[in-house]
Amino acid sequence: MSILSTALLEWYSVNKRDLPWRRTTDPYHVVVSEFMLQQTQVSRVVEKYHEFFLLFPTIQSLAAASPAEVIKAWSGLGYNRRALLLHRFVREVVEKRGGVIPSVPEELILLPGVGSYMAGSIASFAFNLPEPAVDVNVRRIFYRYVHGKDQGKPLGRKEEEQLWTLVRGNIPKLKSSDFHNALMDFGSLVCTRDSPSCASCPLRSSCSFVSLYEAQKEKVLYVMEKRQEKGMMENGKFVPNRIFRGRIVEFARQNEHRSFSFAVFGKVIKKDYTNCDREWLLLLCKTLQEDHLLTFSLENNDSIILRFSP
Ligand code: ADE
Repeated sequence: MSILSTALLEWYSVNKRDLPWRRTTDPYHVVVSEFMLQQTQVSRVVEKYHEFFLLFPTIQSLAAASPAEVIKAWSGLGYNRRALLLHRFVREVVEKRGGVIPSVPEELILLPGVGSYMAGSIASFAFNLPEPAVDVNVRRIFYRYVHGKDQGKPLGRKEEEQLWTLVRGNIPKLKSSDFHNALMDFGSLVCTRDSPSCASCPLRSSCSFVSLYEAQKEKVLYVMEKRQEKGMMENGKFVPNRIFRGRIVEFARQNEHRSFSFAVFGKVIKKDYTNCDREWLLLLCKTLQEDHLLTFSLENNDSIILRFSP
């Protein structure tokens, strides 16, 4: 095992978080957890995880549900599009693969909602295969370890490939799942984005980042360029559309099939809503409809009724 893997696994044996999806290798449970964990905080997923399986205990039961039922069950997790992608994923597995989730990234990546990270994470967490799963945490840890600084901008294709090869080369034999879990915990507890604990880091003796960070502190930390999602001002603050979209879907969960005037609906979605925001709000509803998250109809051009597609 590499120095990095040995130190990391040793650290993990003492510091691992007890998370519900780590108590199982059932591929269906792992897949659901990975869809939930994309861009959502671990604590929030922990709250929803068991509830979801009470509603959909098997992959067949989830495949048989309607998209509307799945979106409703996704309440509190945000990024509702992932609920639909998960649903498409399981439907395809049930309809075309007899309900058996594939184990290798080359096949996983052909399924809806699966990118390189997710393909690697399912192979690793559910099947313990030595396949790399590189998310923001893993990328940050390895980049710092090797280059001694944070990447200032997204990596090019070649650099990204090199990073995946590096991670692959560090996966300890028969311990891929533990190794990746260790990296996730290490990235959120020690090698954090904004205040890494280099002084007490178990990789300190071999990491290139330590000396530079201790000498220059925040100078070597870069906040990655982030594409700003367009949004609106609310109470003098900029709020991205993603947040407003989430509020609309939540409103629909509570008020499906009921008719609301734009004045009332608008104030729930945006606290300082005025008539001037009507076109913008309608556009958000249209994009949600295009994304198959909900449908809407207008009444007398003044009221709106939201529904989930059946
Ligand atoms: N994020 C994605 N997968 C995760 C996992 N298995 N544990 C913690 N955070 C994660």
